[in-house]
Amino acid sequence: MSPREWSPSSWRERPAAQQPDWPDEGALERVLKSMADLPPLVFAGEARDLTADLAEVAAGRAFLLQAGDCAESFEAFNATTVRERLRVILQMAVVLTYSSGLPTVKIGRIAGQFAKPRSAATEAAGDLELPSFRGHMVNDHAFTAGGRAADPERLLRAYHQSAATLNLLRSFTKGGFADLNRVHSWTQEFVAQSPEGERYERIADEIDRALRFMKACGVDTRSQPTLHETNFFTSHEALILGYEEALTRRDALSGAWYDSSAHLVWIGERTRQLGGAHLEFFAGIANPVGCKLGPGASVEEVLALCEALNPGRVPGRLTLITRMGASRVEAALPPLLRAVRDAGHPVVWACDPMHGNTFSTASGRKTRRLDDILAEIAGFFAAHRAAGTTPGGVHVELTSDDVTECLGGSRAVLESGLDDRYETMCDPRLNGRQSLDLAFRVAELLRAG
Ligand code: PEP
Ligand code: CO
Repeated sequence: MSPREWSPSSWRERPAAQQPDWPDEGALERVLKSMADLPPLVFAGEARDLTADLAEVAAGRAFLLQAGDCAESFEAFNATTVRERLRVILQMAVVLTYSSGLPTVKIGRIAGQFAKPRSAATEAAGDLELPSFRGHMVNDHAFTAGGRAADPERLLRAYHQSAATLNLLRSFTKGGFADLNRVHSWTQEFVAQSPEGERYERIADEIDRALRFMKACGVDTRSQPTLHETNFFTSHEALILGYEEALTRRDALSGAWYDSSAHLVWIGERTRQLGGAHLEFFAGIANPVGCKLGPGASVEEVLALCEALNPGRVPGRLTLITRMGASRVEAALPPLLRAVRDAGHPVVWACDPMHGNTFSTASGRKTRRLDDILAEIAGFFAAHRAAGTTPGGVHVELTSDDVTECLGGSRAVLESGLDDRYETMCDPRLNGRQSLDLAFRVAELLRAG
């Protein structure tokens, strides 16, 4: 579709995968109509700043860390849960920046990550078959007919929780919590005693020393906002297109359309069909956008996605997030890297080492091995080094809490211990220790390059 024919609603003429079965279409449209008048959650200028930061990533002058929950929850929501997500991302960013010397562009899977694509439309337990859980923006996790019915009022609740989350993130990142003088306070107790925690403390001590040194040399560190504040961007999978359409606004300054639901939105592996509704919607918004690529993605498909999503070849506009699986990355990634490189598309390449490495244990727990996650990241770096392309970043599912969802790590989570604190509503996340461990491994790979 040519840009002239694009509108925030033109996706409605295309097949839209993974949309919920809303029992009452009228109620849905009433909610969406009311949302169209609500204030934007993020601003066009901020989205443009992120595009500029991602252009630096594409050029190898910065590194991208995109991280957060698989699915945010309406229930587990308060100032502490938001602060804890931010805290671990700030810690990881310090490790990455300190070790590599590159700025870290930080994007949360947060303030809008409420909708999930599912491999099966329904789920059965005993005699009961019900719609699958599609994220709190759509229905409830509870396995009851009422819980699993799609409820449009949830779209509004997702909007309001996103607004409250963004408000907190803005005050945490601009109001002192992200101050480099507080690097020590970002460590959770259960992390501090671990080898990763001790390694982090050493970096934090060195940062303290460097700050004291600057002060002693007469640098007025208090007047340097970059030491006391940080930029933190939001992102989610823009799955429920009615919600995204309702939050799309024309920017008065540039005349371009921005999806104001997040700074960056991405298309999932299950909804990136050429000619599909998601691609149509994404082609017309001016935000930086991401697209997941699984092991089945062909060279032709990926080049067509680049053309559709970034015909102007704007650096930072498009991030390709590869999620191949540890055993497939070595074979699947190199042809894509070479083709995109040869076509001259200035993409950011990010590695999602989570979604290609999920499996179920004998007892039915969905999990991932930290070793597989690290192996996919190592394979990602190796493929980029061989192709002469830039390994731009990582995209991970995590929490700073002491959960037992992914296997392995220095204080290894064992299969027999998965039930201890398995709290995710969707995919298994790295805990605070495993997340720091991963940051140190990525920092080593960055330094080696
Ligand atoms: C996700 O990021 O949570 C997700 C569902 O990923 P993918 O589309 O890559 O499967
Ligand atoms: Co997930």
